[in-house]
Amino acid sequence: MAMNTVEHVTDLRIAVNGAKRSGKTVGLVPTMGALHQGHLSLIERARTECDFVVMSLFVNPTQFTDIEDFEKYPRDPIRDRALAEKAGVSLVFEPGVGDVYVKGFDTVVVARHLSDILEGKSRPGHFQGVATVVTKLINMVGADKAFFGEKDYQQLQVVRRVVEDLNIPVKIVGCPIVREADGLAMSSRNVRLSERQRSAAAILKKALDYAQEIADTGVHDAYALRAWMAQTIEVEAEAKLDYATIVDPDELRDVDTIDSGGIALVAATFGKIRLIDNKVLKPAPGYEVRR
Ligand code: PAJ
Repeated sequence: MAMNTVEHVTDLRIAVNGAKRSGKTVGLVPTMGALHQGHLSLIERARTECDFVVMSLFVNPTQFTDIEDFEKYPRDPIRDRALAEKAGVSLVFEPGVGDVYVKGFDTVVVARHLSDILEGKSRPGHFQGVATVVTKLINMVGADKAFFGEKDYQQLQVVRRVVEDLNIPVKIVGCPIVREADGLAMSSRNVRLSERQRSAAAILKKALDYAQEIADTGVHDAYALRAWMAQTIEVEAEAKLDYATIVDPDELRDVDTIDSGGIALVAATFGKIRLIDNKVLKPAPGYEVRR
């Protein structure tokens, strides 16, 4: 069946209700377009778990803290729709700003602690914008499951928190990070890197892998591991480090050791382009977790 695109919520509802009436489960893959393999992997996963896959395509203005970043965000809806169709999306939901933020719009969704830390520190209001639009998209679609990349780990945790706290009847599925050959996590922003910045950007994944290599030698001290990651990134002249930290995987609070694991999160800017990456850190092989 040919893929349809709808712009208005009423048409979205009609299409989704039709699918639901014929007993189909509905999956949602929220995106801002400029699709790459990372997005396509979410669609593939959604197709294995749901009968009817809705991909939303909406560059959400409220989650941008920098007007230039919003204006320069890559947009190519014609290419995106073709890729979505090829990947097996059932329906593209491509609302206008006025369909999402109706006249008089006055409500926000915010996970407070999770929004203030890490990415939230350099991008105040960002996660409020994300939480609000994701809540709206899930509700507009009436999705059974919604699929998010682990690449934006803090975003994934914000969404999980909101869905649990507000009893939204949807299952959130986290999907693994898709990378370029040199390890750089795929991102729509990568196309804005200069050649030099692009090759320098591989340092983020290298720093994360290095932390695990050191951990494998028995160093579980999170302060030492953070310092190793920070130094690795700082040696790269094109990179300006924002943070290199190790936190617990749920609340994203700093941990002292990785005796029971942890997640390493890094952020750096290359010129004007801010990139993030993360990796689960495991204790050294053979180390018994004591509780
Ligand atoms: P966007 O950056 O377009 O990303 C859409 C989804 O693709 C997110 O869940 C993101 O984590 C995932 N993704 C991006 N790069 C990935 C990669 N390399 N590997 C795996 N997954 C990847 O994230 C957003 O849009 C927006 O904040 C949104 C959730 C749509 C709300 O506006």
